[in-house]
Amino acid sequence: IWTVDKTVENLYTYPQIIEAAEVLQKNEVVAFPTETVYGLGANALSDEAVNKIYEAKGRPSDNPLIVHISKMEDVDKYAEEIPEQAKKLMNAFWPGPLTVILKVKQGILSNKVTAGLPTVGIRMPNHPVALALIEASGLPIAAPSANLSGKPSPTKFQHVYKDLNGKISGIVDGGETGVGVESTVIDCTEPIPVILRPGGTTREEIEGIIGSVGMDRQVKEEVEKPKSPGMKYTHYAPAAPMYLVDGSPAFLQETVDSMRKIGKRVGILTTDERVNTYQADMVVSCGQREQLSTVAHHLYDALRQFDQEKIDMIYGEVFPREGIGVAIMNRLLKAAGHRIIKEHTSNR
Ligand code: TXA
Ligand code: MG
Repeated sequence: IWTVDKTVENLYTYPQIIEAAEVLQKNEVVAFPTETVYGLGANALSDEAVNKIYEAKGRPSDNPLIVHISKMEDVDKYAEEIPEQAKKLMNAFWPGPLTVILKVKQGILSNKVTAGLPTVGIRMPNHPVALALIEASGLPIAAPSANLSGKPSPTKFQHVYKDLNGKISGIVDGGETGVGVESTVIDCTEPIPVILRPGGTTREEIEGIIGSVGMDRQVKEEVEKPKSPGMKYTHYAPAAPMYLVDGSPAFLQETVDSMRKIGKRVGILTTDERVNTYQADMVVSCGQREQLSTVAHHLYDALRQFDQEKIDMIYGEVFPREGIGVAIMNRLLKAAGHRIIKEHTSNR
């Protein structure tokens, strides 16, 4: 474990960063903070290194990884071509929570990074520790979120430690991450770019730069991917089953009361504005409803808190699908396995 103060200057010359970079150069895996969530990094040029990521996370290797770089010029090393719109996006949002999907240059990156696809996702994170570590290693760093597959992504060092201690070679502790949800993934190989995953850069911000973009059908219609039988279909999920409640606070409370009456221990996921108004076995706030960026920041930590007590089920509030709210609802729906309870107000 290397503890690093992210506010110091010339971080890439710091002994802790240099040590961690050397571990990456030996094709070992190291977790590190970014502005979105902690990543689990490895040398993207090496099959051996990238395999260790999949092993540590317990992640199926058909899901491609994002390549993290520290300099704008490095894109040319790994991408075959960079369309004009991609250039505009990179200039506007890098370093920052945006991953661009481009045609991959053959024969350079490990095939394990792209999972055999003809494209690659690249991003430059806006975090001094991440940038210093990448710079010091001199390598492109493949990194998924540093959680066990299926668990909420880590936004604190403690989350990474709990999930991966003993399974990886090291963790750079740079404190809490900022944005709290992952980067937006946008496919720039299409004439009109398509958002594949909503995240820290909003659709509104993107459209402010390049005009209207598409949204992946599964994201737009909020449907689950077809799942093979017996496969775990929740992501970002606490241990107890979660249900989203689309209705009034009174309706949510009634729903909770009916379950507690039959002996269930129930948790509620809410916001600062209402945290003191609900009654349940555990009530957790994930931020201020009036400022959705605070909800994004606290969301995964709040979900993980439910695992610290014996809770049979969790009921969570829904959020407006605007701005960062799109990413928040996307993650909440996955955490809840798309279970959503609607209040029928018409017959009241
Ligand atoms: O904020 C983030 O993006 C974090 C931090 C660590 O950078 N990383 C992250 O990685 O969230 P991961 O592996 O958990 O998610 C990567 C997403 C997946 O949904 C994956 O399918 C998609 O990016 N992806 C990666 N390469 C792709 C490609 N070539 N084509 C389509 N989707 C791709
Ligand atoms: Mg992830």
